Amino acid sequence: MADSFQMANHISLCVWLLSLVVLAMSHETYIVHMDLSAKPTAFSSHHTWFSATLDSLTTTTTTSTHVTSSSSSKLVYSYTNAINGFTAILSPSELELIKNTPGYLYMVKDTTVELDTTHSTQFLGLNSNSGAWPVASYGEDVIIGIVDTGVWPESESFIDHGMSSVPERWKGECEDGFQFNSSLCNKKLIGARYFNKGLLSNRPNLTLSMNSARDTDGHGTHTSSTAAGGYVKRASYFGYGTGTAIGVAPHARVAIYKAVWEEGVFVSDILAAIDQAIMDGVDVLSLSLGQDGIPLHEDPIAISSFAALEKGIFVSASAGNDGPYLRSLHNGTPWVLTVAASTMDREFTGMLTLGNGVSVTGLALYPANSSLTQGPIYFVGACENDLDAGKIDEKIIVCQDKNDTLDEQYYNVQGSNVLGAIFVTNNTDVEFFMQSTYPVLLLDLESGKTVMDYARKFNSGEAKASLKFHGTRLKTKPAPRVASYSARGPSYSCPVVLKPDITAPGSLILAAWPDSVSLASLKNDVGTATELLYSKFNLLSGTSMSCPHASGVAALLKAAHPNWSPSAIRSAMMTTSDILDNTLKPIQDIGDYNNPATPLAMGSGHVAPNKAMNPGLIYDVNPQDYVNLLCGLNYTKIQIQAITRSSNVNCSNPSLDLNYPSFIADFEGNKTKSVKVIHEFKRTVTYVGVGNSTFTAKLTAVGRLNVSVSPKKLSFQSLNEKKSYKLRIEGPNNMKENEVVYGFLSWIDSKGKWYLKKVDKHAKACADNQHAFVPFAFDTKCNLV
Ligand SMILES: *[C@@H]1O[C@H](CO)[C@@H](O)[C@H](O)[C@H]1NC(C)=O
Ligand SMILES: *[C@@H]1O[C@H](CO)[C@@H](O)[C@H](O)[C@H]1NC(C)=O
Ligand SMILES: *[C@@H]1O[C@H](CO)[C@@H](O)[C@H](O)[C@H]1NC(C)=O
Ligand SMILES: *[C@@H]1O[C@H](CO)[C@@H](O)[C@H](O)[C@H]1NC(C)=O
Ligand SMILES: *[C@@H]1O[C@H](CO)[C@@H](O)[C@H](O)[C@H]1NC(C)=O
Ligand SMILES: *[C@@H]1O[C@H](CO)[C@@H](O)[C@H](O)[C@H]1NC(C)=O
Ligand SMILES: *[C@@H]1O[C@H](CO)[C@@H](O)[C@H](O)[C@H]1NC(C)=O
Ligand SMILES: *[C@@H]1O[C@H](CO)[C@@H](O)[C@H](O)[C@H]1NC(C)=O
Ligand SMILES: *[C@@H]1O[C@H](CO)[C@@H](O)[C@H](O)[C@H]1NC(C)=O
Ligand SMILES: *[C@@H]1O[C@H](CO)[C@@H](O)[C@H](O)[C@H]1NC(C)=O
Repeated sequence: MADSFQMANHISLCVWLLSLVVLAMSHETYIVHMDLSAKPTAFSSHHTWFSATLDSLTTTTTTSTHVTSSSSSKLVYSYTNAINGFTAILSPSELELIKNTPGYLYMVKDTTVELDTTHSTQFLGLNSNSGAWPVASYGEDVIIGIVDTGVWPESESFIDHGMSSVPERWKGECEDGFQFNSSLCNKKLIGARYFNKGLLSNRPNLTLSMNSARDTDGHGTHTSSTAAGGYVKRASYFGYGTGTAIGVAPHARVAIYKAVWEEGVFVSDILAAIDQAIMDGVDVLSLSLGQDGIPLHEDPIAISSFAALEKGIFVSASAGNDGPYLRSLHNGTPWVLTVAASTMDREFTGMLTLGNGVSVTGLALYPANSSLTQGPIYFVGACENDLDAGKIDEKIIVCQDKNDTLDEQYYNVQGSNVLGAIFVTNNTDVEFFMQSTYPVLLLDLESGKTVMDYARKFNSGEAKASLKFHGTRLKTKPAPRVASYSARGPSYSCPVVLKPDITAPGSLILAAWPDSVSLASLKNDVGTATELLYSKFNLLSGTSMSCPHASGVAALLKAAHPNWSPSAIRSAMMTTSDILDNTLKPIQDIGDYNNPATPLAMGSGHVAPNKAMNPGLIYDVNPQDYVNLLCGLNYTKIQIQAITRSSNVNCSNPSLDLNYPSFIADFEGNKTKSVKVIHEFKRTVTYVGVGNSTFTAKLTAVGRLNVSVSPKKLSFQSLNEKKSYKLRIEGPNNMKENEVVYGFLSWIDSKGKWYLKKVDKHAKACADNQHAFVPFAFDTKCNLV
């Protein structure tokens, strides 16, 4: 399923290979790539050609004159944009025959895609007085397409109050289906379609519980309202985070493409959804899902987003939730924005008041109303092993995490019959334990000492305490911090391009939720059964949640700069991102003991939409540049053709040096002797400021590496002028395995803030261009099959 924290999952390459081995037992579903240039002119369209190709298999295999199955029953999808090809149900013999038909390139078996508040707009600095919101008219008339679990159209986040009429260029529609009809769409939710033919061809006897675009999972409602939900007052998660819920681009339109089903998710359906979204005319695609460990030409998101790119559609995709280990990310595709996840300056709290009147506050997200007016409190120590029911039942117990065993203690207590549990811990990666099924409060060491001292002293039975939940604390520091679950680069499919690209709010995001989907379960009084809770807003964490934030920012940029290419928009977001947190120190990484986050965790930095409106310089990339990269990576002509859908693959200019707003170099190699290694990158920047301007390079020091840039100054006279520079990294190649060394390059505009104030009163920030370069040391080569 999608990349939200709780659902994190992935497909490994091994699973993929395994499915190829067990093929051919019976009819199975395949995605077939075809070369359109081989289509005989007799066929009026590629659809009729695909049908005829399938028919030809049948006639050659049938001995009688009766055609046993026609192309119409075999053909599952015929694609128009996302790939040149189709999905079909094929028998083992047909599988062999199709390989000899004209125009055949290759095929893959259809596989499943495992799925992995809105205070965030405030945290991103979005406001109605200045900056991106007013400049971009809140994303007005930009259409964000979301491939996900569907939508709950009745959610207040999709009310179209005050919105102008739907742009005429829009070709999408609101499909009828079970408990869904076109009257549920409006000027905010302008499209809702569903794609299940792949799922049904793989599981023929399946009955879908909700055969329509209606969301019975919640994920799609959450992601789409995060990107473009309207204002909803008094939203909260059981009293936590109460406030006005709002999407990042509140005037943008939403089109939902349901391809993720409770019953399963297949590549063929995802391809069909993206194929249709491109045809319908979306401007931004938000993809909070991905497949792990596959090369670019087999990655449905990589393939279909190349088609989107060629149409000028911006694609933002989640990095995945398999962090904090290096090389854990998916969607590390050079032509999409790969989004990591981080925290905000908001915490959810509970309060413990001791019998002596002293109160302490800790982290909590227990959803129910604690009925604890006052109860006995008992100090246990480490709640690791056998708990003495006689001593702890019907009490608030205090557990001490001395040895990083919070996990074990949490589950151990869950099985007991306590009124509540206070965990005293040094661990800062506690989000999972906050969303508890029994009353849990997490205290830091300082507050914990107060409580432990009190409870220990009165362990005889007189100690009393009361618990109160549903607190919210704002402006907490430090924030943002990279979440530990956020998957890390380098990219599996293309390690020569630094991934992820950027981080955005992803932890404990409040957004819309279907009324009918329970979002929390509680232990009941007996501690056995569970009670299910419902709410119109839910708090979720994951790169699934950060991805729609980035999609919303892209929509704002698209509204403000309609002529910018997807790579220009990506460049603006990356080069203006923040590398410092709200204490003005480097952004920390929760997954690395709160050490400074490296670019392999956060990319260029934390997205800063107001600054992104005015980046000064952009790094543009055209589709042929990506082809040159694929050629440089030694992809075969057929593999490249599967991605570009063009039989005209021009590999005359292969290159591993893409004009990307970041750098990555691999200092792998001879660890026995220090040998000097030089990596050189060439970049061309396009000036998007006003008047003339001179930018000066500034480099941070990078350990024992020598980094230089030439020239050190770039002067521009007019809009869209291009200038090139070189970055050179020189160092020893005996770096340690997994050693990550990094730094940042900024291009500082000599006119500085004065200039920006004058040109655009909305732009708050300076026009720095900041990149991450990561010489890192471990064996990684671009994966080629
Ligand atoms: C569409 O569904 C709504 C709500 O279920 C219902 O009120 C309405 O009559 C339906 N409209 C059509 C045209 O079927
Ligand atoms: C589907 O149902 C048919 C008829 O009920 C049955 O013969 C067949 O075995 C079923 N197929 C699967 C894959 O369960
Ligand atoms: C908590 O109490 C409030 C006010 O009495 C009530 O509206 C709400 O439904 C309760 N929440 C739960 C989860 O029981
Ligand atoms: C902490 O863990 C280590 C290693 O597992 C163990 O040797 C030690 O006894 C533990 N200490 C406490 C206080 O539990
Ligand atoms: C708590 O964490 C800090 C910083 O990571 C460390 O210095 C300290 O020793 C830890 N204390 C305990 C009791 O684990
Ligand atoms: C591509 O192949 C050439 C020739 O075999 C080789 O020199 C080069 O290192 C390969 N490039 C990559 C990225 O593997
Ligand atoms: C291939 O691209 C190069 C530039 O990269 C161009 O000079 C050449 O004409 C192209 N060849 C073909 C066959 O299109
Ligand atoms: C590493 O360098 C040493 C000395 O130059 C050389 O003898 C050795 O073969 C090199 N090893 C590798 C793996 O290149
Ligand atoms: C830059 O613009 C300023 C003001 O328009 C002008 O005075 C100056 O001569 C220009 N500089 C260059 C190098 O063109
Ligand atoms: C860095 O540059 C200095 C001065 O040019 C040189 O002495 C040193 O050897 C270089 N270090 C590396 C690692 O290349």
